[in-house]
Amino acid sequence: MKNEIEKLKTLFERDIKKVKTMNELNDLRINYLGKKSKIQEFSTMMRDLSVEEKKECGRLMNEFKTYVEVEITNLRKELEAKELEEKLSNEKIDVTLPSTKINVGSVHPITKMINEVEDIFISMGYDVVEGPEVERDLYNFEMLNLPKGHPARDTQDSFYITEDTLLRTQTSPVQVRTMLANIEKTPIRIICPGKTYRKDNDDATHSHEFHQIEGLVVDENISMADLKGTLEVFAKKIFGEKREIRFRPSHFPFTEPSIEVDVSCFNCNGKGCNICKGTGWIEILGAGMVHPNVLNMCGYDSNKFTGFAFGIGPERMAMLKYGINDIRNFYINDKRFLEEFDKVEKVSYESK
Ligand code: DAH
Repeated sequence: MKNEIEKLKTLFERDIKKVKTMNELNDLRINYLGKKSKIQEFSTMMRDLSVEEKKECGRLMNEFKTYVEVEITNLRKELEAKELEEKLSNEKIDVTLPSTKINVGSVHPITKMINEVEDIFISMGYDVVEGPEVERDLYNFEMLNLPKGHPARDTQDSFYITEDTLLRTQTSPVQVRTMLANIEKTPIRIICPGKTYRKDNDDATHSHEFHQIEGLVVDENISMADLKGTLEVFAKKIFGEKREIRFRPSHFPFTEPSIEVDVSCFNCNGKGCNICKGTGWIEILGAGMVHPNVLNMCGYDSNKFTGFAFGIGPERMAMLKYGINDIRNFYINDKRFLEEFDKVEKVSYESK
């Protein structure tokens, strides 16, 4: 019996060396201490021994059991530590690794420009309104004093959808819509930013799709002086306090008189450079006093009411500001181009 226990111990010592995992360790424990283990068999066999032998064997068996338990507990601790170490090293995070770049969108430079213009006019008490891009010929041309067959229609080559509907060539029809919708014929002060379309061949300065920001003020006793004051405030806010503006006579069918507005060059301060083509002035928008015909057609008595209107090109403003020489950049949507503008907080001309 004593020998048997010695043999069992040798066997155990051999087996425990092969154990690599927790599962194997559990199996080992069951094999050596479980109900069907050799040691249990010995307990049964002990019944036939003498009292002296029983004592001796009992002690040896208990020693063996304790030995096995201690060995197993030690190995369990070792395996647990090893498992933890493996887990930690597998789940290790290297905080020095470069992170994955998260791409967030940026506000389009044209939207930025429009937002800034909106802010300026909102601060002067204007409402921002919108109109449809698919427009009636009636509003896009006829009620703007451009009857069918008017030669000026040719300057705005249009995408017609039906004989009487087209993609608007300008945001000016929103003037008509706003005046018509104002049943009480109360004063109006609005700007309307939006997309416009013309059948132009795309090149560096033309795009078949572009933007305009329309402005309209209608009230009693509105004069050219109000127009000039308003546009001066606008020009200074956007191009810098030291900028001056000048009016040049022009022609638009829906305004009389019509003007084109220049701002003194923000790059050379009027001395002449390549941005202002040596003139010291840069054209920024078209404007004028609302034509009495337009007022009357829209239900405003032109004997009582006068008004002014203007049309701003945000693409042109952004191109000047950033020195962009091809309008198509705004529509190609190359992320490398668009991301550049994310760094610019606000589109604003430095006052020089
Ligand atoms: N609609 C004109 C265009 O597209 C721009 C314009 C000029 C708008 C004068 C106006 C204005 O409101 O008064 O060429």
